[in-house]
Amino acid sequence: MNSSLSPDQRATLVLKAMTQDEKFRLIRADFGQPSEGRAMPAGALTSAGYVPAIARLGLPALQETDAGLGMAKADKSGGAISLPSGLATAASFDPQIAYAGGAMIGSEARKKGFNVMLVGGVDLERDPRNGRNFEYAGEDPLLAGTIAGNAVRGVQDQKVIATVKHYALNALETGRNTLSSQIDEPAARDADLLAFEIAIGIGHPGSVMCAYNRYNAVYACENDWLLNAVLKGDWGYPGYVMSDWGAVHSAGKSALAGLDQESAGEVFDPKVFFDQPLRAAIASGEVPQSRVDDMVRRILRSLFAAGIIDHPAKAAPIDFAADGAVAQKAEEAGVVLLRNQHDLLPLSPSLKSMAVIGGHADKGVLSGGGSSVVYPPAGNAVPGLPPDGWPGPRVYQPSAPLAAIARLVLGKVQFNDGRDVAAAAQLASHADVAVVFVEQWDAESFDRPDMTLPDHQDALVAAVAKANPHTVVVLENNGPVNMPWLDQTAAVLESWYPGARGGEAITRLLFGEVLPSGRLPMTWPKDESQLPRPQIPGAGLASIGVPPQGQPADTVDYRIEGADVGYRWFQKKHIEPLFPFGYGLTYTHFGYDKLKAKWADGKLVVAFDVSNRGSRDGTDVPQVYVTLPGENHTRRLAGWRRLTLKKGATLHVEITADPWILAAFDGQRKNWQRPAGSYRIQLGHSATSFEGEANVELPAASFSVRRSRASP
Ligand code: BGC
Repeated sequence: MNSSLSPDQRATLVLKAMTQDEKFRLIRADFGQPSEGRAMPAGALTSAGYVPAIARLGLPALQETDAGLGMAKADKSGGAISLPSGLATAASFDPQIAYAGGAMIGSEARKKGFNVMLVGGVDLERDPRNGRNFEYAGEDPLLAGTIAGNAVRGVQDQKVIATVKHYALNALETGRNTLSSQIDEPAARDADLLAFEIAIGIGHPGSVMCAYNRYNAVYACENDWLLNAVLKGDWGYPGYVMSDWGAVHSAGKSALAGLDQESAGEVFDPKVFFDQPLRAAIASGEVPQSRVDDMVRRILRSLFAAGIIDHPAKAAPIDFAADGAVAQKAEEAGVVLLRNQHDLLPLSPSLKSMAVIGGHADKGVLSGGGSSVVYPPAGNAVPGLPPDGWPGPRVYQPSAPLAAIARLVLGKVQFNDGRDVAAAAQLASHADVAVVFVEQWDAESFDRPDMTLPDHQDALVAAVAKANPHTVVVLENNGPVNMPWLDQTAAVLESWYPGARGGEAITRLLFGEVLPSGRLPMTWPKDESQLPRPQIPGAGLASIGVPPQGQPADTVDYRIEGADVGYRWFQKKHIEPLFPFGYGLTYTHFGYDKLKAKWADGKLVVAFDVSNRGSRDGTDVPQVYVTLPGENHTRRLAGWRRLTLKKGATLHVEITADPWILAAFDGQRKNWQRPAGSYRIQLGHSATSFEGEANVELPAASFSVRRSRASP
């Protein structure tokens, strides 16, 4: 308890005092809730995972809760505040929004007695149909790593361990327990692993969760290369690796590969590997005792580093109003305005009549499903929708857009649930403006086979848009979908899964009380045929009426696009998406000039002026893209700035390119190379629309795999 010693020193001292049984108790967690005839472990808080306290040593119980969007307590007791999708936070391009969201959910977890949060999803979006995209932070490694890393910082500043996950390449849900992600080392290092490296470097998470899938044929949780060589070796990661729930397949092999803690093996793994089987592996000499000691030391180190031992979690009341305001702000910053013909938006509150249609907008806003779903304090606003079992329930946050709109609009606001398309169109035809809410429930454990909206919603939007030229569409979903009706609509907002106060946030954006400022954190394809893999064999979920076609594949070939994920794939293939990465409109427009790029003191600095050239105040996100010299390089996001400017105002901005983006991993030399030559700098409104270009000569450099940002 001598807090003047370092976490490492303290961990080593505790380790020396521990018996072998105590060590073995720390390296496996139990499922923290009743399941399949098993009682809940005494002392658990009805959650994802639980390790009993070791009172003799003053070690508190580990109480683990999901997850990325808020405290997902399995017994729903008391409820919690849900952030909007991780994609909304990423769309803000704002590390402070990410930090504030992390701090909010971390504080709620702590007030409920939790000290480990399974938050920090950073798998890159390689396919818009992946059921878990909403838990992650998009397709770009620098953006995703920065957003996830800052969320982790926010959580851990509340003295709660965060868990960066799912390491690595868990980019599809279909067949996730066996699917092998096939990729070459340089591509992984430049893309997916880079996102993890950046998130870990910024956030210093106490733990990292190894994934369900296999990585180049070897299960992630027994993958020596991923865990020992890259994470703990190259990146110098000092914390512990916990398994995903049901991701362990061996005792000795996993232990030797670098797994430090097995999660809920008694429920989800074929057996509890990190008990008798691991003891046997030690007895036979397969695994040295020093490896078990290292597991324990790593866990203890994270407990000390996060402040959990010195400041144990204490029950306290949650201020739902204050926390809801944090969620609302994240949504307000993350909604992306995709289309706004003839400046229909912002709407005027003095409208005489308005039709609100579909999407259960009279009740609330949709959440994504699976382990991350957060139960609202006031309960599910639309209970009883399929599926009955996992990965349901389908939860709606009770923040009804209809009520928020009706509070604001002076004229008549009428609602139609959208099931009767003709009736909805009829209502729309008599209104000044029609707002159609369309929704798609996606969840952990399955992917969509295609990008088509379910439940005839395309027909609904088309009919309403035909009946009323002032039709606004609000999407509540997991990201890019086909929009065959796009050209007929006046405006479209992507609101993701909007979170605890989504209805209020969307309404304020529609009426210009806040200004849209989100930018797409992924490329929006025209349709599935533009994707590197147009089909996902076996995708679907029968219990929601999308029966899977065929069997899930054994492998998924990410070598097709390699490191050219998202906008880089579209550039390489010379295909035009529907909307590019980084795209988003607002109620004014911005221009850039006087671009100057220079190499000085070992840094690439890009300076320029941003002007608000429209007639309203607004927020802009100028983006700097860099292309390395040589053949075959595609442009990469190297930096950005989120800024708010009064109408007519100009601001001088300087952005320093991230040094990681200026180098590429060399598979032969096993290090990072920054080639000498002319680097192309493009100043973008998005990944495809530029206003200003420059070329800068950079000297050659090479970096070893071990880089400073990863070592706290
Ligand atoms: C998910 C993890 C989650 C864990 C515990 C798994 O199904 O993949 O993200 O943290 O369950 O609930």
